[in-house]
Amino acid sequence: MAVKTFGVIGAGQMGNGIAQVAASPGGLNVIMNDIADQFVDKGYDTISKNLDRLVAKEKLTADQKKEIMGRIKKSTKLEDMKDADFVVEAATEREDLKLGIFKKLDEVCKPGVILATNTSSIPITRIAGSTKRPALVIGMHFMNPVPVMRLVEIIRGLATSQETYNMTEALSKQFGKVPVECNDFPGFLSNRILMPMINEAVYTLMEGVGTPKAIDDIMVLGMNHPMGPLALADLIGLDTCWAIMDVLYKGFGDSKYRPCPLLKKYVDAGYMGRKTGKGFYDYSK
Ligand code: CAA
Repeated sequence: MAVKTFGVIGAGQMGNGIAQVAASPGGLNVIMNDIADQFVDKGYDTISKNLDRLVAKEKLTADQKKEIMGRIKKSTKLEDMKDADFVVEAATEREDLKLGIFKKLDEVCKPGVILATNTSSIPITRIAGSTKRPALVIGMHFMNPVPVMRLVEIIRGLATSQETYNMTEALSKQFGKVPVECNDFPGFLSNRILMPMINEAVYTLMEGVGTPKAIDDIMVLGMNHPMGPLALADLIGLDTCWAIMDVLYKGFGDSKYRPCPLLKKYVDAGYMGRKTGKGFYDYSK
C-alpha cells in the first residue's frame, strides 16, 4: 500500500518529532493524535517553533513552513486513524496503555495498514499479540530529539513480515533517517546498552561518588559524549528511564539491571526531567 497519510499516536516529545519528520522531509500528510486538545496543540506548537528555527536559518521558506503545517491534522479520536496508511504509536511507555491502543487501532485501521510502535523497550511480539494483524506490527524506534538524531532502530516481532520491514525501512529513509535492524529482546539494542549506563550514573550520584555536574563532565570531557548521562536522562524523561530499566530487570531476571532506587525516588517526587522543569538539574529558570 502506498503511504500518503501517516498517523502518529501521541503528540509528546517523541510523537511531535515523528510527526514533524513525516511531514518534512517525509512529505506526507500527517494525522497527529493525543487524548486531549491541550496535548495536541502543544505538540503542534513545538513543530511550528522547530520549523521557525529552520526558516530563521534559511533552510526553509515561510511559505514552505505554512505548507508543511497545513499537512498536519490534529486529532483527539483514535477513530481518525481510519484514514491513515501507516500508523506509529508514541504514547507513554506503559504496556497496558499500548496494548489497549493497538487493540483499538486494529479495529479502526484499514486492512493492510502497518501498525508500528515507538516503544523503547516493550516486546514487539507482545504488542503484536494484542492485534489480529501481527505480521503488520513492527518496532520503529526514533531517538530524541527526533528531528536531529539520525537513527531509527527497526525491531521485528516474531511474526513481522518482510514486506512490513521493507516498508518501515523505506519510510525511515524518506524521513531522512538511517534505519538499523535488530531483534526483539528486552531493550532491543539501543536501550540495552544506553540505559544501564544512565542507571549506573544515578547509582554513583546516590552513593555520593560525585555531583551531577562531575558525573556528566567526566563523560563529556573524558569520553566525548555530547551530553552527560544525567543530563541525557533529564532529556529522555526519568519516568521513561525507570520504565525501561524495569523492563530490562523483569525481562532478563538479572540483578545487573536493578533500577537505581534514587531514580525511582525522583520519579515518585514528580522530578521527571526537562518536561517537568526538574530532574537531576533545575530547568525552571
Ligand atoms: N528539536 C529540534 N532541533 C533541535 C532540538 C530539538 N529538541 N534540540 C537541538 N536541536 C537542533 C538545534 O537547532 C541545532 O541545529 P543546527 O545544527 O541546524 O543549528 C542542533 O540541533 C544542535 O543543537 P544545539 O547547538 O542547541 O546543542 P548541541 O550541539 O549541544 O546538541 C543535542 C544538542 C543534539 C541534544 C546533543 O546534545 C546530543 O546529541 N545529545 C545526545 C542525545 C541522545 O543521546 N539522544 C538519544 C536519547 S535515547 C532515545 O531517545 C531513545 C530512548 O528510547 C530513550
